Amino acid sequence: MITCLLGSSRSDGNSRILADNLLKGTKHRMINLYEKRIDKVIDNRHSKMNDKDLHQDDYSEVLKNVMDAHTVVFSTPLYWYSMSASLKLFIDRWTESLRDQHRDNFKSVMSNKEYIIIIVGGDNPAVKSRPLIEQFKYIFEFMNITNYSFIVGEGVKPLDILEDRNTMEKVKTLNSDLRNLKHQIGETNE
Ligand SMILES: Cc1cc2nc3c(=O)[nH]c(=O)nc-3n(C[C@H](O)[C@H](O)[C@H](O)COP(=O)(O)O)c2cc1C
Repeated sequence: MITCLLGSSRSDGNSRILADNLLKGTKHRMINLYEKRIDKVIDNRHSKMNDKDLHQDDYSEVLKNVMDAHTVVFSTPLYWYSMSASLKLFIDRWTESLRDQHRDNFKSVMSNKEYIIIIVGGDNPAVKSRPLIEQFKYIFEFMNITNYSFIVGEGVKPLDILEDRNTMEKVKTLNSDLRNLKHQIGETNE
């Protein structure tokens, strides 16, 4: 199973189009983070507060779908040269999960997956997404994640991405790789 977390605030945007093209014909779940409630992280690392039942939100459900997947796709627009806030809220909460006694395998489970990061921006993203790519690399290093790749596309209005031929071609190739992987691990088409 592939789990894709969508970070855009619009459901018909360029990052969604790339995710749909990447995943067509594969067994996957699309989760629109914009429709989920994920609370801001609470940093109790250096306090004696009890972390139990701190949040009543959708984080655990989203995380379960990520932890159950063999491949995880994060698809985000470039917002102010960073990932969207809805995706960042999800990743910030990993700090709580790393300390959560009930998720003692969190880091090892998360490290044992393939990650594909889709980024779409309108202002020379090939250059200006570099700080975000570096940020993801540090995140992955911290989490012992080694199997990852990036797709960077260009577009402003929904559908603009279809004109970014190189990115569409790259996504097509990766889609075919994911379909072949599906045969290796015995998953069927949706
Ligand atoms: C809040 C906000 C911030 C943005 N910041 C950037 C940016 O820093 N760099 C950039 O290239 N484009 C930026 N954009 C443009 C979007 O990245 C671009 O329109 C992209 O195609 C949106 O993805 P989507 O179609 O999947 O929603 C921004 C758009 C919004 C709404």
